Amino acid sequence: MDKLTLKASGPLSGKIPIAGAKNSALKLMAAAILTDQEVVLNNLPNLADTRFMARLLDSLGIETYWPASSSTLRMRSAELTSTIAPYDLVRKMRATFNVLGPLLARVGHATVSVPGGCAIGARPVDLHLKAFEAMGADIVIEEGYVKAAALRGLHGADITFPFPSVGATEHAMMGAVLARGHTRLQNAACEPEIADIANFLNSLGAKITGAGTSCIEIEGVSSLGGGEYATMGDRIEAGTFMIAVAATGGDVTFAGANLGHLDALAAALRDAGVKVEGVEGGVRVSRSGSGLKPVDIDTRPYPGFPTDLQAQFMALMTIADGVSTIRENIFENRFLHAPELNRLGANISIRGSEAIVHGVGRLKGAPVMATDLRASVSLVIAGLVAEGQTTINRVYHLDRGFENLEAKLNACGAQIERSADSD
Ligand code: EPZ
Repeated sequence: MDKLTLKASGPLSGKIPIAGAKNSALKLMAAAILTDQEVVLNNLPNLADTRFMARLLDSLGIETYWPASSSTLRMRSAELTSTIAPYDLVRKMRATFNVLGPLLARVGHATVSVPGGCAIGARPVDLHLKAFEAMGADIVIEEGYVKAAALRGLHGADITFPFPSVGATEHAMMGAVLARGHTRLQNAACEPEIADIANFLNSLGAKITGAGTSCIEIEGVSSLGGGEYATMGDRIEAGTFMIAVAATGGDVTFAGANLGHLDALAAALRDAGVKVEGVEGGVRVSRSGSGLKPVDIDTRPYPGFPTDLQAQFMALMTIADGVSTIRENIFENRFLHAPELNRLGANISIRGSEAIVHGVGRLKGAPVMATDLRASVSLVIAGLVAEGQTTINRVYHLDRGFENLEAKLNACGAQIERSADSD
């Protein structure tokens, strides 16, 4: 297992290229099951999670061609040899559950392991299953597996989500593409990744309108063609690095980042005294001299402050001049980074879904443990500004969602080393 060793860096400066969005890429890969024609996905991030999804697709009989370190995946699902996603593949990465809808829509049945909880919360899939039932699927849960069948095909439905779930919105939208008739998804999630998936599916011949708003309309088609599509830039990777520069100070441009997807973060950073501006082809963040002001945040579905940037923003607030409150409204257990940040000298107390962060003058390096993807990267941000040396263990969490993290930061002046953990 690898570990990262960080020394306090001075201000970061330079340019960081932003990779394709993990949370879009995973669903684009699953959505490609809907067509028997060749699909080429460009700007695909090279991550443990996307490679894992490719393994699942292989196991379903889908031909994939994805050379090491390439950002282009070619895939063709001319003939599926399996419609089963086993426990081991779904347990390790929840997004693999999203093959259920495309399999059901394409061949009328699928058996996919129930994902189970994860470090950040229980994360049930009831909203996904209710949507497919509304579209005519018979669903039973037996021996830990969701067994879904719609032998005469799915049909369109009017579905109103009680909560704008990202995964359920994406999943229902994929299923509805090949359903008979019209589907309307109301109180749908509005995350930019949903519009990206819809744009991809429309480029193959789907008829989706309204993706990216709370009402999505889908007119079912009988089949999809092939095509080539480039994944949108990763707003969470971009946001993470923006927060890192806010913490260290300096001046960095993020090529491929879209400021329009990062309004809530940009507002919070500006309130903290950081300069954020849109530039040709990206976003530029700079901070010099003056300290950071404390800012309260509240995580919300898009366009609110993203839960996937909450841990990173908390790391930033540990060194602000004053007290800030951070509320997590999406997941019930997403403060695992707080005790680790406290090991670095932060002063964070947790009350239910609220974290009170008393800014401290300085963090001090220490060994810490990565617990999930975004929690891990919050420790990297803290390690960049902590006096002395910080060691982060279990960095496989980071590799699930950040491509070349240390190379990108080191190119701007960070001092991060990766080594094999001997423990
Ligand atoms: C997606 O998870 C992302 N994952 C998450 O990113 C992200 O944090 C989350 O959206 C919110 O933005 C991927 O896209 C692969 P939800 P998802 O369905 O789809 C409850 C990361 O670090 N819920 O919007 O699972 C659920 O328990 C990951 O990259 C139900 O109750 O999120 C949660 O409390 C972590 N029933 C809330 O809704 C359901 O059927 C939001 O979940 C579905 C969800």
